[in-house]
Amino acid sequence: DPLICLDGTKVVNSKLWIHKRRPEIINLFEQEVYGQSPLNTGPIRFEVLEEVKGALGGKAIRKQVIIHLGKGEKALAVNLLIYSPQFAKQPVPGFLTINFQGNHTVLPEPGIRIPTSWVRNRNGIKDNRAKEKDRGISASRWAIDEIINRGYAFATVYYGDIDPDFHDGFNNGPHALFPPQDPSERKPSDWASIAGWAWGLSRCLDYLEKDSLIDGKRIAVMGHSRLGKTSLWAGASDERFAMVISNNSGCGGAAISRRRFGETVKKINTSFPHWFCDNYKKYNDNEENCPVDQHMLVALSAPRPVYIASAEEDRWADPTGEFLACLNAESVYKLFGFSFGATGKPPVNQPVHGRIGYHVRSGKHDVTAYDWEQYIDFADKYLK
Ligand code: GCU
Repeated sequence: DPLICLDGTKVVNSKLWIHKRRPEIINLFEQEVYGQSPLNTGPIRFEVLEEVKGALGGKAIRKQVIIHLGKGEKALAVNLLIYSPQFAKQPVPGFLTINFQGNHTVLPEPGIRIPTSWVRNRNGIKDNRAKEKDRGISASRWAIDEIINRGYAFATVYYGDIDPDFHDGFNNGPHALFPPQDPSERKPSDWASIAGWAWGLSRCLDYLEKDSLIDGKRIAVMGHSRLGKTSLWAGASDERFAMVISNNSGCGGAAISRRRFGETVKKINTSFPHWFCDNYKKYNDNEENCPVDQHMLVALSAPRPVYIASAEEDRWADPTGEFLACLNAESVYKLFGFSFGATGKPPVNQPVHGRIGYHVRSGKHDVTAYDWEQYIDFADKYLK
């Protein structure tokens, strides 16, 4: 029950939630699931490399910004790509997204910078280096045209620029910028990769807050799959995000772990030992003893609008578990006078847009135009 505190106090109003129970739950997720991120940014510098008018056939301004994090050998250069409506009269709301294959894959525009950081070997890549030929290959996942047409900015960051997605003992990415005093003494609650990517999204928001084209108080954070887990944790840990969107996030994202349906805690910890903090391994085959479950992660977005999307054939991510997380987060939204709007799992392709949004789309694990249609409609409702 998200509304019962560790000391048994029942949360009966939003004040108790905000001052007592929410911090308690954040702390539990930090200690037991994602690990504790640094409380500060460390050295940070924004380098605006370009601002090009007339992009996307004349309707957008394209910007590329490097967010320099840390100093010295292990410093990171995180590339943020932004499209913003060219003819907007005032700062616009926007979507901050995080991508899997590099900013150059979201659109086939020759000017988009190619990552120099690690990329996954797939699709003909064998040396972990991004390639020219991959420009635009993930374009179907990003409704950039529609986002601009509807008056929003689109920003995206490549997750490998923040933290390469392999287990190296936390010696690269943001972890290397905040090493433990004794490197052999990582704590079981120290942050891992999902927390690292989420922390990186907060640094992107640090920049967006300063960009005069964009209204930093109306930014939705969005990610898919492991990056949907990331967007949920980013939204939970950084309340500056005005809206939170998780696409097919599954285990360790929106799906209830105690159901043990599809991917389980043990499976995810075994395949991806670097995603969660070491304490999370205590819950392998032992979900019922974890002091949190993932509906509480959804509830941490309250009272902000949150959207959880499933896909019918994405059984590995447990669509029913993702829906149940929304249903069981609703009690927290109710403290603020908001509701979800569904009492049972809606049929396929019939979205529910309460303060919590949910849909199960037909088809596979992916991000599609249909998903974006829902997110933009949802944003029209709450961010416009
Ligand atoms: C794997 C993993 C999932 C993850 C997905 C992805 O399938 O088991 O937890 O969401 O990869 O990120 O694509």
